[in-house]
Parts: sequence; C-alpha cells; structure tokens
Amino acid sequence: MSMVTITNHPLIQHKLSILRDKNTGTNEFRALVSEIAMLECYEATRDLPLEPKEIETPIGPCTAHELAGRKLCIVPILRAGLGMVDGILNLIPSAKVGHIGLYRDPETHLPVPYYCKLPQDIQERDVIVLDPMLATGGSASDAITQIKAFHPKSIKFMGIVAAPEGLQALQKDHPDVDIFCAALDEKLNENAYIVPGLGDAGDRIFGTL
Ligand code: PRP
Ligand code: URA
Repeated sequence: MSMVTITNHPLIQHKLSILRDKNTGTNEFRALVSEIAMLECYEATRDLPLEPKEIETPIGPCTAHELAGRKLCIVPILRAGLGMVDGILNLIPSAKVGHIGLYRDPETHLPVPYYCKLPQDIQERDVIVLDPMLATGGSASDAITQIKAFHPKSIKFMGIVAAPEGLQALQKDHPDVDIFCAALDEKLNENAYIVPGLGDAGDRIFGTL
C-alpha cells in the first residue's frame, strides 16, 4: 500500500487558511498555491539519494553531499496543477515538465482526457504528478495510468487538499504511488466538491469564476 503524507507544517497551515478563504483574490491565491507546493516539495523529495563529494571550504577539506544525479519530471494536470509548477521549479530547476490535460465532466464527475505531452526520456525519470485538488481521485488516477504507459522509474502524487474518497480511490488504483498533500478534508458534497475545500482551484488560479 502506498504511503500518504499530510504535510501539516505550521507555515503550510497558515498559508492554507488564506487559500481557503473565499475573499482571497486571484493574485494572492496563485502565489499561495506556488508557495505551498514549494514547501511540500521539501517533504516529497526527502528520499532523493545523495553521493559524497570532496570539497575545500575556506577552512579546510570537507566531505559534502550532493544529489546523486537522479532525473526528475513534474507533470501538472491542467489546468490547476499548473499553479504548483513554479514552486517546485524554484527548488528543482533542472526538472523537466510534462503536461496532462483532463477536465471533469460536470454530470458524471468522470475525467475527460484532452492532452498528454511527456518528455521523451521519461523512462529514465522519477515523476511527481501535480494537482491541488484530490476530490473523487478520478483525474489523478487517470493521469497516473496515462503516465505509467510510458514506464517512468517511479511516480509520486502531490496535491494540496484531499478528500478521504479521493485518497482511498487513488491508493486502490495505484498502490505503488506515494501521496503528498497539505490537508485531508472531511468529505465530498453532492457535486463532488471537497468540503470544506477551497472551491474550484482552476477557476481561482486563473480568475475564470
Ligand atoms: C479539478 C482539479 C482536479 C480535479 C479533481 O479540475 O484541478 O484536476 O478537478 O477532481 P477529481 O479528483 O474528482 O477528479 P477540473 O476538472 O475542474 O478542471 P480545471 O483544472 O481545468 O478547472
Ligand atoms: N475540483 C476542484 O477544483 N475543487 C474541488 O473541490 C473538487 C474538484
């Protein structure tokens, strides 16, 4: 079974409370999504392997450690996942970026795929899939199924707000994918929106409300 990490660090909780507030405007919302993604990235990359490197400090020799050349690829799910990209690239500027386009059918709440572009060398890369909202889990699960067809080395999922239903579905469909989120909320409502959640993430990031 996959590992679920809810990164409820005080800085994340503080930013999340502003993000959830319906009076927070587009500019601030966008900045907060990026900042929370950056803070979560710290936890999601905790297992990156290091290798020793001999360097000279101004005082003398030192065995330091640097990343062992692991190649990363982040894959935002369009649209809302795009809001998390800059925050991650701040910490991992060398990561490649793939894109998966999905929207939820308003009646069935099932994901409808419309775009997929991944780096050619994805077989050599560890992938982190990004989407702030894990509601029914259908979008994240479908995106991960699409990515698995290209055989990356590993896949993690990073969201911001998750519903119990979404976590359960994603773990059932993809028990090999570890999940990182900032909050686990109460439930879904009748429209499959997360309660209390933060509303429609894509609309709030791009001002299309
Ligand atoms: C939202 C969100 C996720 C999905 C989550 O996207 O960004 O992709 O819904 O719901 P699920 O877990 O039930 O699949 P939406 O379909 O609204 O598209 P958008 O990002 O283009 O607005
Ligand atoms: N998509 C969103 O943007 N928000 C939700 O609460 C559920 C799906």
